[in-house]
Amino acid sequence: MDKLAIQGGIALSGEVTISGAKNAALPILCAALLSAEPLKFSNLPHLNDISTLLRLLGQMGVGVTLEGSDGLVLDGGGLNNPLAPYDLVKTMRASILVLGPLLARCGEARVSLPGGCAIGARPVDQHIKGLQAMGAEITVEQGYIHAKANRLQGARICTDMVTVTGTENLMMAACLAEGETVIENAAREPEVVDLANCLVSMGARISGAGTDVIRIQGVERLHGAEHAIMPDRIETGTYLCAAAATGGEVRLLRTSAAYLDSVVDKLMDAGCDIRLERDAINLKAPPRLKSVSLRTAPYPAFPTDMQAQFMAINCVAEGVATIRETIFENRFMHASELQRLGADIQIEGNNAVVRGVARLEGATVMATDLRASASLVIAGLAAQGETIIDRIYHLDRGYERIEEKLARLGAQVRRVH
Ligand code: EPZ
Repeated sequence: MDKLAIQGGIALSGEVTISGAKNAALPILCAALLSAEPLKFSNLPHLNDISTLLRLLGQMGVGVTLEGSDGLVLDGGGLNNPLAPYDLVKTMRASILVLGPLLARCGEARVSLPGGCAIGARPVDQHIKGLQAMGAEITVEQGYIHAKANRLQGARICTDMVTVTGTENLMMAACLAEGETVIENAAREPEVVDLANCLVSMGARISGAGTDVIRIQGVERLHGAEHAIMPDRIETGTYLCAAAATGGEVRLLRTSAAYLDSVVDKLMDAGCDIRLERDAINLKAPPRLKSVSLRTAPYPAFPTDMQAQFMAINCVAEGVATIRETIFENRFMHASELQRLGADIQIEGNNAVVRGVARLEGATVMATDLRASASLVIAGLAAQGETIIDRIYHLDRGYERIEEKLARLGAQVRRVH
């Protein structure tokens, strides 16, 4: 397994370009299942999760043609195998996003249950409940979701909790249903809006994306379109935190703070000087950060995907911070690894109390999930001495060429095979 070796204590400086958003690209690629005509994408990030999904779509009969450095054409015309097998779904739980489109386009689907992951059980009951409300017959046998529907019917659906991929799955299914579907308690994440924009460019009739009530008027078919994936706001926030933790000064290109208000506000509270441009963000860190407390919640509140990164910067800040995780039941696994670097963290249920220390000392640590890995990278960059991070396949799922981008910012980091 690959490792990352980081020589910490260097203030990051310089410019780096942000890639397309993983969590927008995943549902948007699944939207290709809804049309018999080609979809052309740009600003696609090169990530393991994306490659896994393209393998899955290819197995279903979708034509996959890479174009240039970040382009892709998907042709759903050849779709002939509505099956998402366990061996692929188990490595990439967002594969559940093929369920709604397959049901809407083919009238049937067999999708492996994603199963849990490190950060929680992550059930998909809301996806199933919503599709059943639209008339799908769904059974779960031998670890697979078996779904059938002659033609989905529009319905009024209110999910029990805000679910990002649940909202996305139901919105995609509703595009080809008979009549109107109303999704209440819908997720408001920017990635949901990016997906809606792509679907509308394919001829879908959607209003309210970005609010908690989304209305979809079903149509007979969707046509081809072109779509540029939005910038990755979590990758953006991660590099901002890396610069903040190392006392650096960076400029992030091809991104926007438009979807990061809660994160930018917290970084300003921590003492960072942030200057926003139309498609760039500038951050200058103070000599020492101030501790910032936070509570994760659905968008537009502070994103759970930035919680681990903020725990890392609080480890080296001045003061005491309380971090409350309200979305996932087990998303503090980075804490015990950060403690190996000398961090002072007390976990009490879904609360973490972080007392800033003057400095962290490099050590060998282990990545446990995607954002926990990012947290360890940030701490390793801030620590004195060398940090070795093991199991960085977690990182490769969600961060494109991370060691190249960090090296461009002056970090001393290398991948050890
Ligand atoms: C999406 O996951 C993101 N992944 C996650 O990012 C992100 O952390 C999460 O939304 C929350 O913002 C993608 O978009 C591919 P949820 P998702 O359904 O959709 C419970 C990353 O690091 N729930 O919004 O799976 C669930 O257990 C990843 O990039 C049910 O109980 O999250 C959780 O507690 C990690 N039943 C809460 O709702 C359901 O049917 C929110 O989950 C669905 C969800």
